[in-house]
Amino acid sequence: MPTKLALVTGANRGIGKAIAAGLAKHEDIKVLVGSRDLAKGESAALEIGHGTTAVALDLGDRASLKRQVEDILSTHGTVDILVNNAGVLEEAGLMDVEDSAFEKSLRVNMLAAFDLMRLLIPGMAERGYGRIANVSSGWGSFSEGLGGPLSYAVSKAALNALTFKAAKDVSGNIKINAMCPGWVKTDMGGANAERTPGEGADTAIWLATLPDDGPTGKFFRDRKPIRW
Ligand SMILES: NC(=O)c1ccc[n+]([C@@H]2O[C@H](COP(=O)([O-])OP(=O)(O)OC[C@H]3O[C@@H](n4cnc5c(N)ncnc54)[C@H](OP(=O)(O)O)[C@@H]3O)[C@@H](O)[C@H]2O)c1
Repeated sequence: MPTKLALVTGANRGIGKAIAAGLAKHEDIKVLVGSRDLAKGESAALEIGHGTTAVALDLGDRASLKRQVEDILSTHGTVDILVNNAGVLEEAGLMDVEDSAFEKSLRVNMLAAFDLMRLLIPGMAERGYGRIANVSSGWGSFSEGLGGPLSYAVSKAALNALTFKAAKDVSGNIKINAMCPGWVKTDMGGANAERTPGEGADTAIWLATLPDDGPTGKFFRDRKPIRW
């Protein structure tokens, strides 16, 4: 019988779908597949099974995101586990990136995580339990050289900074961590990538189900801490 509710953003495909499927195997967790296209979310939820349910969640527009989260909370109750997985990768540099593409990268990859944390942490605090896993990237790591296109690297570095600071601002049994899934075979990662979505999902699932004495405010790959 599920006692915890997990919300995974961008869970209709790719790594997010694998994270949702991995969490759904835990008997005590009911999973909500966040998808901006509800029909795609429903077909992923059907495939995953275990009582998984799709919810409409478009991170591209702040006002509608807030309305959709209110709907989720009133229909399903408090979210105990949040996986900020949805992401976009815009291929352009400083002088050729469109303003709208840069802004979209910041919104989807970082600001939506900020909004979702602020909307969901109060319920977690009330219940005395919360796990937040932010799906970041080695391309958002200063230590690894901020690789990849500008909008992506800047937005993932900002997500990392948000993770680090947010973990310090919450108290009680709420853990906020970031992870890099490695190079994963998805629409974003491409066909030549090294890892399956299931392999890419593993560390996020682990962070989403950490025990009470688990870490917070850290960055991981393959369940091991890495430098920001
Ligand atoms: N693949 C890799 O090698 C790799 C490496 C490092 C980090 N990552 C990170 O891992 C995460 C998942 O990546 P992936 O490889 O699974 O990518 P993907 O296959 O391209 O999937 C991206 C997911 O994000 C969703 N999304 C995009 N914009 C959205 C929006 N405005 N609102 C709601 N959902 C939105 C997509 O939904 P739609 O289907 O509606 O577009 C899709 O479900 C991302 O944060 C990515 O940066 C991936």
